Amino acid sequence: MKHLLAAADLSPTEIRFLMDAAKKFSTVDSAPLLQGKTIVNLFFENSTRTRTSFEVAIRKLGAGALNFAASTSSVAKGETLIDTAKNIEAMGPHAIIVRHASAGSPLFLSKNVSVPVINAGDGFHEHPTQALLDLYTMEEKLGDVKGKRVVILGDIAHSRVARSNIHILRKMGASVAVCAPPTLLPPVPETLGVDFAYRPEELLREADVVMCLRIQLERQNRMQLPSLAEYTAFWGLSRERAKLLKPGAIVLHPGPVNRGVELDTEVADGPRSAILNQVYNGVLVRMAVLATVMDRPKLEKWMKG
Ligand code: CP
Repeated sequence: MKHLLAAADLSPTEIRFLMDAAKKFSTVDSAPLLQGKTIVNLFFENSTRTRTSFEVAIRKLGAGALNFAASTSSVAKGETLIDTAKNIEAMGPHAIIVRHASAGSPLFLSKNVSVPVINAGDGFHEHPTQALLDLYTMEEKLGDVKGKRVVILGDIAHSRVARSNIHILRKMGASVAVCAPPTLLPPVPETLGVDFAYRPEELLREADVVMCLRIQLERQNRMQLPSLAEYTAFWGLSRERAKLLKPGAIVLHPGPVNRGVELDTEVADGPRSAILNQVYNGVLVRMAVLATVMDRPKLEKWMKG
């Protein structure tokens, strides 16, 4: 693993190693494995959880974080992605974390810079560290995901979170199903390689995990839904609909949550919710990813110590 570009690239062995490393990081406050290194957070899209948790992870590993926000940079004057990255690379960072609206940007960067590149979300393509922290949270709450039923509910068609989760969960033996209105599923849902249904009631009773996805309000001017109220009425995880879940089933959401749209506040803040566990675990998993791509031998030695 020189880079982390996509969950699709990870083998089950690599995923297990990252989970083991994250678990080990949960036992310490900090682990200065990357002391003296500088890591750039190159964010061309907004973020709260991913950018901040990478920054916390960088600090806990003893490295320095350099935060770049496109909105206050020379990108606003028209500088290209590659020029921006080349100029930042010239300052000598040891790794670049990138979020960009265009699918494939991290791959493109990895071919043009000499340091490790980590994908923090690229367009509709992938969000691999989100799926890794989701897996960590599921294992923490439910144990091995092999054979567990994971239902992903929401805007599947536009979701990089869904895509990365499908790759990781299938590799780890989970049984995955997606649910959305037809306009928020890919045109041929079978291409996802998982079960699908158009109504949540068909899937909720069997779920061990329900992962609600954000309705991307910024895209709704394309009229993929007749109205948000209709989405909430038929696909939202309301308190009533959550009553269909079996005891022990958990609710996840990558955030930010549109409260009262895809998820009722009572469910988001209720006993089944592991949403804030996801956020906490994001730091551990991102520590594992950074230490793995930047100095795996040192990480392995530390894990054995
Ligand atoms: N889950 C996630 O990617 O959240 P942010 O957009 O806040 O980083």
